[in-house]
Amino acid sequence: MFFEPNKNHPFTPNFLSALIFPRPIGWISSISKNGVPNLSPYSFFNAISYIPPQIMFAATANHSDGGLKDTIRNILDTREFVVNLAIKKLKNEVNETSIDAPHDIDEFNFCKIKKRKSKIVKPPSVADSPINLECKLIRKINLKTKSKNKNQNKMIIGEVIGVRIENRYIKNGRINSLMMKAISRMGYSEYSEVDSKFLMTRPKWIKL
Ligand SMILES: Cc1cc2nc3c(=O)[nH]c(=O)nc-3n(C[C@H](O)[C@H](O)[C@H](O)COP(=O)(O)O)c2cc1C
Repeated sequence: MFFEPNKNHPFTPNFLSALIFPRPIGWISSISKNGVPNLSPYSFFNAISYIPPQIMFAATANHSDGGLKDTIRNILDTREFVVNLAIKKLKNEVNETSIDAPHDIDEFNFCKIKKRKSKIVKPPSVADSPINLECKLIRKINLKTKSKNKNQNKMIIGEVIGVRIENRYIKNGRINSLMMKAISRMGYSEYSEVDSKFLMTRPKWIKL
């Protein structure tokens, strides 16, 4: 079939997440200007440049209280955040932290997740996540929206200014990603686990 998203079709409006998959999950910690830590998963998330290393994530909706999602609000206030890798061992915690808790609730405490003090930025890191990327805000972009609520569809671009990797995943200067058992998001309530890999070398144009 073929359809135009703005016209009639048989799918729910968020069909896109069942078509663009698997999406990595940025499990993002931030802190409010009053010092309340926050933790939430975002799968509209990816790496977007190497030098300097930059990442993006996007909030597709507003907070259930009508305002900005807490993560966006905190990052705009304090300009710092941490991206923690979401792994299978912590899958329930990842899901639990998607709760639309009020702004003054510490979701680390609420979901019983261990914090570790980050090296450079104020927001705490997830202690049991194998990767913590400490980031500073580069830019917020207001994406196109059809909603009257202007707190929807916000994209954050951050620069990674500190990288913590658990030592056991590093060997001979290479990172063993597969060993980490990362999880990713598909459509609906479906997830996948990164549990196999294959190798391919990229082709090179040979100039005669
Ligand atoms: C695995 C997963 C991925 C999610 N990805 C996104 C996303 O990319 N964008 C978004 O707006 N909400 C996403 N959500 C929902 C948010 O996590 C949820 O709205 C959360 O309450 C936001 O928290 P905050 O207000 O503390 O930032 C996701 C939820 C789950 C479980």
